[in-house]
Amino acid sequence: MNYSRIQGTGGFLPAQIVTNADLERRVDTTAQWIFERTGIAERHVAEPGETTCDLAEQAARRAIEAAGLSPSTIDLIIVATTTPDHIFPSVASQLQDRLGHYGCAAFDIQAVCTGFIYALGIADQFIHAGNARCALVVGAETFTRIINWEDRSTCVLFGDGAGAMIVTAADKPGILSSDLRADGRYKDLLWVPAGVSQGYEQTRRNEAFVAMRGNEVFKVAVNTLGRSVLQALESNGLDIADIDWLVPHQANERILAATAKKIGFPVERVISTVKTHANTSAASIPLAFDVAVRDGRIQRGQRVLLVGFGGGFTWGTVLLRY
Ligand code: COA
Repeated sequence: MNYSRIQGTGGFLPAQIVTNADLERRVDTTAQWIFERTGIAERHVAEPGETTCDLAEQAARRAIEAAGLSPSTIDLIIVATTTPDHIFPSVASQLQDRLGHYGCAAFDIQAVCTGFIYALGIADQFIHAGNARCALVVGAETFTRIINWEDRSTCVLFGDGAGAMIVTAADKPGILSSDLRADGRYKDLLWVPAGVSQGYEQTRRNEAFVAMRGNEVFKVAVNTLGRSVLQALESNGLDIADIDWLVPHQANERILAATAKKIGFPVERVISTVKTHANTSAASIPLAFDVAVRDGRIQRGQRVLLVGFGGGFTWGTVLLRY
C-alpha cells in the first residue's frame, strides 16, 4: 500500500488589507471590540475582479515550486472552496488550465471551513488506493464576496486567501490518519440562505450572504475541535505530548485558546494566523501550515495535527508526520 506525504506547501493573500479601523468607518463597531472578541486585527480582501482561481493559482505555483516539481507531474487536483468563480466549471478545472497540464482528474469539494481537511483526506485515499501519485490540494476562498458588509456580527470575521499542498506517494507515512465528519442537524446555525436550485430571484432578495448564530457556533466549535483532537490522538495511540504542532481552523483567537485550554494543549504549540488573516474558510489551515513551515516552526519529521470545523456542521482531522 502507498502512503502519502506533504512534499511542498504554498500560500497566497491578496494585496489589499482591511484593518479594524477601516471597519469602524463602515459599521457600528470599534477596532478594540473586534480585537478583544476575535483576536483579528486585519484581513486581506480580494480586489474587484480578483477571483478565487487567481488566489488558488498563486498558492499552487508556490507549493509546486517548494516541492521542486513541474506541473506535469500532478495527476490529481482538488480545490476546496465555497466561493468558486463560476457555478461551473470547477475552480480545479480552471486551475488545471492555468497550469497548462491537461488530462488528470480535477474537481472541487465544498465543506466550507473544513473543506481543506476533506480535500486532503480524499487525496490521501486516492494515493493509498494507487489511483494518484502526486496530488495538488488547494483551499481557496474569496469569502468576503458572500459577506454582508452592513452586518457587523459577520463582516468583521472573514478574509480572502489560498493555501496549497503537493501530496505525493511515499513508502512510509506521511499522513497517519484522516477523519472526516458532519452533522446536518446544525445546518442553519451558519449558512447562506440563497442557493442555485432555489432560483436566482432569492439571490437578488439579498439573501446571498453568510448568516450565523455566532454565540451557538462558538460553543459547538470549541467542543467539537477539542473532541476531534482527543479522538485523533486516541485512535493513533498518542498523547498530547506526542504532537509538535496543532494547526486548527483559524476562526477566532478565543476559540483557539478555549479549545487548547479545554484539552490541556499548550497554546504556544498552536499555530495561529487569526490576527492578520482572519477567517479565510477553506484556505485557513493550509495558509497557517505554510506560514509555520516557511518561518521554521514546522520542521521535517515533526508530528502535526490539523483540525477543521465549519458550516454543515462539518469537522475533521488529519494527523501527519511532516
Ligand atoms: N461590534 C460591536 N458589537 C458587536 C459586533 C461588532 N462587530 N458584533 C456583534 N456585536 C454585539 C452584538 O450585537 C451583541 O449586542 P447585544 O448584546 O446588544 O445584542 C453583543 O455584541 C454580544 O454579542 P455576542 O454574539 O454575544 O458576542 P460574542 O462575544 O459571542 O462575540 C462573535 C461574537 C461573532 C465574535 C463570536 O460569537 C464568535 O466568534 N462566534 C463564532 C463565529 C465563527 O467563528 N464562525 C465561523 C466558524 S467556522
